[in-house]
Parts: sequence; structure tokens; C-alpha cells
Amino acid sequence: MKKILVTGGAGYIGSCTVIELHKAGYTPVIVDNFSNSDKSVMARLEKVLGFSPKLYAIDCNDKEKLDAVFELENDIAGVIHFAAHKAVGESVQKPNMYYYNNVNSLLVLLDVMQKHGVKNIVFSSSCTVYGQPDALPVTEETPEKTAESPYGFTKQICERILKDQKQTGQNFFKTVLLRYFNPVGAHESGIIGELPLGVPNNLVPYIALVASGKLPMLTVFGDDYNTPDGSCIRDYIHVCDLALAHIQSLQWLDKAPENACEVFNIGVGKGETVLGCIHTFEKVNGVKVPLKIGARRSGDIEKIYADNQKALQELGWKPKYTLADAMQSVWKWQQFIDEQIHNKKP
Ligand code: UFG
Repeated sequence: MKKILVTGGAGYIGSCTVIELHKAGYTPVIVDNFSNSDKSVMARLEKVLGFSPKLYAIDCNDKEKLDAVFELENDIAGVIHFAAHKAVGESVQKPNMYYYNNVNSLLVLLDVMQKHGVKNIVFSSSCTVYGQPDALPVTEETPEKTAESPYGFTKQICERILKDQKQTGQNFFKTVLLRYFNPVGAHESGIIGELPLGVPNNLVPYIALVASGKLPMLTVFGDDYNTPDGSCIRDYIHVCDLALAHIQSLQWLDKAPENACEVFNIGVGKGETVLGCIHTFEKVNGVKVPLKIGARRSGDIEKIYADNQKALQELGWKPKYTLADAMQSVWKWQQFIDEQIHNKKP
């Protein structure tokens, strides 16, 4: 069983990927400092997996400790690097925290990987690197725009750092950069999903909290965009489909030539409006989501969705869940966290 180090493995996408790794016959080893995840995820992962995955509760910026993990584990076959701060608004308020954490942790990780002869890395990038593209859908060749936020800029910088490894002539790293569109949904078990700390910024966790009565009302940020119902368009990808893309990336890396470094869009390839998402949630779950129309949110782009042909053809990846499936799973998860987690907190 090949051992895969998953930084940020206790987070939303990380924990779902840990499950998929196990299903595919890999041994996941988690590195996470729990800066944006709840420790209860470990017990819930144990319930789904039937065993407790190995965990190192450390910060990826701590080179000594990360080095010790590679030393102890000694036969790591590859790394999936999720660990990063990810709140767009917060990154505007605290840019240095984002530059330091997101960029430095990648540099530390690359050093340690090289020292221990670990070549394969799958990196969490984002469609945020495209900004508002001139033409849709976006392909991997679509030129990047200036990043709107420090968070977006860290993704562009980290992509550049990984692409630059090719130019060193050392033929060391083999890299897949996955540009995620909007991850939504929860694991089918209903006990693994997104658990934002505090009031969520993202649409789908907000919808779920309003539906469960924990928040009074959802504000739709703008209904005067140039889209069919006036609200913004995004490409919502089920987190379990997204998790699977990481497994297929590892398999792709095994066969990839020395020095390979490829970018893949991971989205369903179809846009949905904000209002469309809300209506889907209401319809599949039979609940109402009270909403009001508010002003546009600064920094939002009007519409984006992926051309995912490259991932389909080269990774052999294919999303199988619909937005309705994702919304159903979110509601199941919300009911679980209301009972098990929120109610237990003081
Ligand atoms: N929205 C609302 N009301 C809310 C929250 C969101 O109307 O309360 C709208 C936004 O205006 C946007 C859409 O819902 O039109 C999606 O917003 P999210 O915040 O869920 O997602 P974003 O597309 O803004 O951002 C996501 C990730 C980022 C990532 C970005 C692009 O959160 O990490 O996609 O990749 F960088």
C-alpha cells in the first residue's frame, strides 16, 4: 500500500480525499495543525474508515517537524498539499499571514520532499487564478488575470514556484496542479463535510445554516449581473468527485515522464446561478431558505465555469454527482453537525 502524505488532511477537501485514498488502496498519513478544522474529524474519519488514520498535528511551516515526519514515515510515495489559508476576505485584511503561510509552507515542503527523495506532488490550486476570463468556459490555456486578493495571488505564486522546478535542470519533481472550481457537498456517510469556523463566507454552508434556522436570512450578493436570473454563475463540483481527481492525479504521476508539471481544471463544466443553487437546495430537501437581494460583493466575478476536457481525457476523471446530489448531502451533513457538534458546544 503506497503511503501518501496529505497536508491539510483534516480539512474539508482533505478529509474527503483521505477516504478516497483508502478506498483506492493507498495509506493516507495526515499532517494538519487544526488551524481551520475541528479535531472531531479524526473520530469521524475513524468511523468511516474502520481505523484511525495516522496523524501528525504539526504546522507545515515547521521544517524540523516536517522533516521528522518524513524521517519517521520513510517510504512516502507522494504528497497531496491542501494545507493553506483560504478565506478571500481575510486575505485582504491579513495579506502577510497568507503570503507567509501559503507560500512558505510550499517552499518548506519542497525542500523536505527533495531531501527525502519524494518526487510526486499534487497541489490544490483554484480557478481564482483566472480572474474574470474574457471567454467561457475556461481552459487550462486561458491567460491568468491579476489576482483580486492576496489569497488568489498566493495560488498564482505557488503555481509558478511549482512550474519553475522544471527549469532547474534537476529533473526532480513531478507535479499536478488542480484548479478547483467551487467545491460543495459532503461525504455520503453524512459525517464528513465542510465545518466552517464562525459565520461562513461561502454560499453553500451559508444556505445550510439558514435552512436549519441557525442564521435568519441569506443575502444574495447582486441580481443585476448579465446572467439569466441576474445572480453570479459558478461551477459547483461535488467534493467527493473533487477528491477522486487527486487519486487519479497520483496515478497519472506514476506514469508521467520525468519533470512533468501539468495543470487540470476540476469542475463539472457547467455553470449555475446563485439563485439556481438556492432553488435546487429548497427543492431536493423540501425546506425554505429565506433570502433577500443585497448589493454586489466586492471582488466577485460575474461568471466562470470550466472546460474540463483535459481532466476527462488525460486523468480519466469524470464527475458523477449532480448539484442536486450535493445539496442533499449538505443538508444531511448540516443535520448531523447541528445534533452532534453545534449542540455540544458551550
Ligand atoms: N454568495 C451570496 N451570498 C453569500 C455567499 C455567497 O450571494 O452569502 C454568492 C457570491 O456572491 C458568489 C457565489 O455565491 O457569486 C459563490 O460564492 P462563494 O463565496 O461560495 O465562492 P467564490 O466563488 O467567491 O469563491 C470560491 C472559494 C475561493 C476560491 C474561489 C475561486 O471560496 O476559495 O471560489 O476559486 F478562490
